[in-house]
Amino acid sequence: SLPVPSIQEIVRSDFQSVPQRYIHENKDRPIISEDLADSLEIPVIDFSFLAKGDEDEVQKLHLACKDWGFFQVINHGVKEEILEKMKAAVTAFFELPFQEKKKYAKAENEIEGYGQNFVVSEHQKLDWSDMIYLFTLPSQNRNFKFWPLSLPGFKYVPSEIFIEALEEYSREMQKIAEELQANFSVLMGLKRDGLKRLQGGELKQGIRMNYYPICSRPDLVLGISPHSDGTSFTLLLQDDDVTGLQIKHNEAWVPVQIQSNGMYKSIEHRAITNEKKPRISIATFMFPDDEQEIGPVETMIDDQNHPKLYRNIKYVDYVREKFSRKMEGKAHTQFAK
Ligand code: SIN
Ligand code: FE2
Repeated sequence: SLPVPSIQEIVRSDFQSVPQRYIHENKDRPIISEDLADSLEIPVIDFSFLAKGDEDEVQKLHLACKDWGFFQVINHGVKEEILEKMKAAVTAFFELPFQEKKKYAKAENEIEGYGQNFVVSEHQKLDWSDMIYLFTLPSQNRNFKFWPLSLPGFKYVPSEIFIEALEEYSREMQKIAEELQANFSVLMGLKRDGLKRLQGGELKQGIRMNYYPICSRPDLVLGISPHSDGTSFTLLLQDDDVTGLQIKHNEAWVPVQIQSNGMYKSIEHRAITNEKKPRISIATFMFPDDEQEIGPVETMIDDQNHPKLYRNIKYVDYVREKFSRKMEGKAHTQFAK
């Protein structure tokens, strides 16, 4: 990937500046509206029902994944304090002086560390965001050289240690991920541990912390360009009062999830910016081992009605193929059988 400047630094030195490389073509620009009536009513899954094995809730999960590929989780059981602490830790990190943050900079061809989103071409429009991405699970995959140590601005009693906030949060997300994966297994005609077994064990986890500075012209730029995640699934935390995520629904070409043989979607989404308040979001990615072969699971294939739509492929090759193109929402046609 190509080196890109920090947008946080650009905005800090000149709030009015919107460099050409960030300005999207007319057709790709967002419509900025504060009218909440414009927002879609998204599916909501009550996690406490799911964990109890409530049949109706499992069915709701099925429909949410089939029709949307996206849902909000409520009653997830994660303590408010853990979420608040994590958000405070991320805010404190991005408030560090640039020189400090640079100590955790990612190398040009690595994905881990502090920097910008994936950029493959000089001509590509840039995203109005900086980020830090860390591998979190399994724990032996942690590269602590990228993990910020205690942060001067992070005042969260009883513990002010970034690593603790992240570890705690990572553990909670893993619990939610396990429960979701068990439910997806059942919905895909397997035993509760079916997907886990097929994947040869627990999913891996990486956490990407995004920072969207304010923008004087949110109508011209995108915080993150349209894309669909190439993960098994993603858990996203955002601040209630500074939102920005947008998802695409009911369009002709919604990307789909390979393992479910096209039943469940990987929704296209993007983020927008605003003039008033920086925004952070925290994306927890759950994904298989690099060497793991992925493909439609047998129980989702029958030759008559649901022929196999995608070829099997090693996860590492899937990711490589997916991201060798400009990050852009696209159907998984490149993986067609
Ligand atoms: C992402 O797509 O990973 C980030 C989305 C967001 O910040 O809402
Ligand atoms: Fe995403």
